Amino acid sequence: MADPYLIGDAMTGGYGGADILHDCTISVERGEIAVIVGPNGAGKSTAMKAVFGMLQLRKGMVRLDGTDITGLSPQARVRAGMGFVPQTGNIFPGMTVEENLEMGAFIRDDDISDTREQVFDLFPILRDKRAQAAGELSGGQRQQVAVGRALMTKPKVLMLDEPTAGVSPIVMDELFDRIIEVARTGIPILMVEQNARQALEIADKGFVMVQGRNRYTDTGKALLADPEVRKSFLGG
Ligand SMILES: Nc1ncnc2c1ncn2[C@@H]1O[C@H](COP(=O)(O)OP(=O)(O)OP(=O)(O)O)[C@@H](O)[C@H]1O
Ligand SMILES: [Mg+2]
Repeated sequence: MADPYLIGDAMTGGYGGADILHDCTISVERGEIAVIVGPNGAGKSTAMKAVFGMLQLRKGMVRLDGTDITGLSPQARVRAGMGFVPQTGNIFPGMTVEENLEMGAFIRDDDISDTREQVFDLFPILRDKRAQAAGELSGGQRQQVAVGRALMTKPKVLMLDEPTAGVSPIVMDELFDRIIEVARTGIPILMVEQNARQALEIADKGFVMVQGRNRYTDTGKALLADPEVRKSFLGG
């Protein structure tokens, strides 16, 4: 069977103390959206950071398009085609929207104006607010800046850690629509979501993580239909 496009495979490790991840696997296939859900502190962000090369694994590996990238730095992973929007600190609040997008393109030395226009087409509000400090925007708009910034490197795969954190249900729906739009352009998306039910509705594949381990892995649809998953993780 072919490898998923991006996989953190049987990852064990942590931040130097006790292991946080225990034989944890997350992945996304070409053309798909994969969603990771689970309680606070389950290790979702840690798993994402591990896939992006921000922590040392004791066991397991990360493969991108079939290539072992376990030893690569985060910067090298960006060059290899990975875009990552972390859960916190994902924008430069003192810089304008436009400067944030320019910072996102740091690895590029070609003309970035077409990509910037694509980001503005995806998130039109950012075009209007391009000269405004990103820190002055609403929560939903800041998340658009963060996603837009990651798109500036023209990634081949996009990793999002709680892209809808702290936004209203309407803004959440809009963000999910934009994420689906990005996925349809051919960029697979691996994302952590607190809004588990809504996220699984748009997920081709879902991972339920508990205490650093995989608890359930299935299609989004199957997880939504599973009475045990519903009872324990989706509020019934
Ligand atoms: N930088 C760090 N150094 C040491 N321990 C950390 C660090 N970041 C997280 N942890 C610990 O790792 C565990 C998993 O945290 P993590 O942030 O990955 O969970 P999460 O599933 O993303 O939670 P949330 O839903 O709240 O975002 C927690 O016990 C946390 O205290
Ligand atoms: Mg987290």
